[in-house]
Amino acid sequence: MSISQSKVKQVKALTVDQIAQFKRDGYLVLPTALDPELCRQTRDRMWETIATHLPRIRRDDPSTWGPVTEEESTRLAAAKPEGGGEPYLGGKGHRFFIRNGAEELLLNLAPRAVWGIAEQLLGKDTVVWPAGLDESGTTTGPCFMSDDAITGLASHLGDTLGQPEKGSFTTQEALQLPKTGPVWLTGQGTRGLYCTLPGSPSPGPDLGSAHSDGACYGRWRLQMAAYTDDLPANSGGFTVWPGSHTRVWKEQWEAFLDGEKHTDKHLEVRRAGGYTDPVIGQIKADTDPVDCHGPAGTVVLWHTKILHMAGQNQAADIIRQATIYGYLKTPAAIPDPLVVDETNLDIWRDWSDELR
Ligand SMILES: [Fe+2]
Repeated sequence: MSISQSKVKQVKALTVDQIAQFKRDGYLVLPTALDPELCRQTRDRMWETIATHLPRIRRDDPSTWGPVTEEESTRLAAAKPEGGGEPYLGGKGHRFFIRNGAEELLLNLAPRAVWGIAEQLLGKDTVVWPAGLDESGTTTGPCFMSDDAITGLASHLGDTLGQPEKGSFTTQEALQLPKTGPVWLTGQGTRGLYCTLPGSPSPGPDLGSAHSDGACYGRWRLQMAAYTDDLPANSGGFTVWPGSHTRVWKEQWEAFLDGEKHTDKHLEVRRAGGYTDPVIGQIKADTDPVDCHGPAGTVVLWHTKILHMAGQNQAADIIRQATIYGYLKTPAAIPDPLVVDETNLDIWRDWSDELR
């Protein structure tokens, strides 16, 4: 453990019962797990950012917390930082984001504070440490260059890195990304702050935004959402379908081993599309979703393959404020041949002995 790792105060380790619950349900809620002072600082930074870039939304007046208009959205999107990456503040409608995920505050708040639990679940010395920015202000980390990763890089960076259209399905060990780029693809930052303004629209009767994150192949196994402000029920919380992780995992791997990639959009019936997999329809039909809410500092851990969506924010005076991070297994812990090979369909192959 490096000096920087040992300095961050750790969230209490999981009990045997909590690990069993995570394994069975595919998710686990840890109420008020995070440092309240860091939560407060993150909220303050959010409001400072809004005051700078979107001042008509005022902290002391929830009546001003209306959706981001087309004009505002276009103006924010045009403010691209020098050196690449996305605008610091962006958004559309009821969603806005702040790309501060590689900053020390966000890293210490969540991914580093939950580091002990990540190693507890995934295995000691097998997880990519979120180092954040180096002296030059950029990030460096490993990235498995699948089609999905290439798409993610292109959509968040433009084509500034000159990435090819197709993935090599090999690991680039030291991919450099600007601080407001997709730093989560290399494990170096969170997604920043993802927020849902009050009165967001209903997801519709078929809950079409429910999905399973990314492809089954790759190095993401454990993810987290952390709330930096109080989040009551029905206010846009992370919504999960308990137990769906094992079903999606199996179906997507079987499809991949049959030759179907997650990105094969030309297929008439896609078994591993992320939003439209037939198994997702089955899960929605037989399982009730759970709205994960809680006070500021609450952490939701989830298996990467669990079916989930952002809930509808039905509150009038609550902004859903979450940072999202995925722990990556290191290239040493899962070499490339194993990243694309799960022939025995063992969902817990890459997890710790303690969890197994
Ligand atoms: Fe997601």
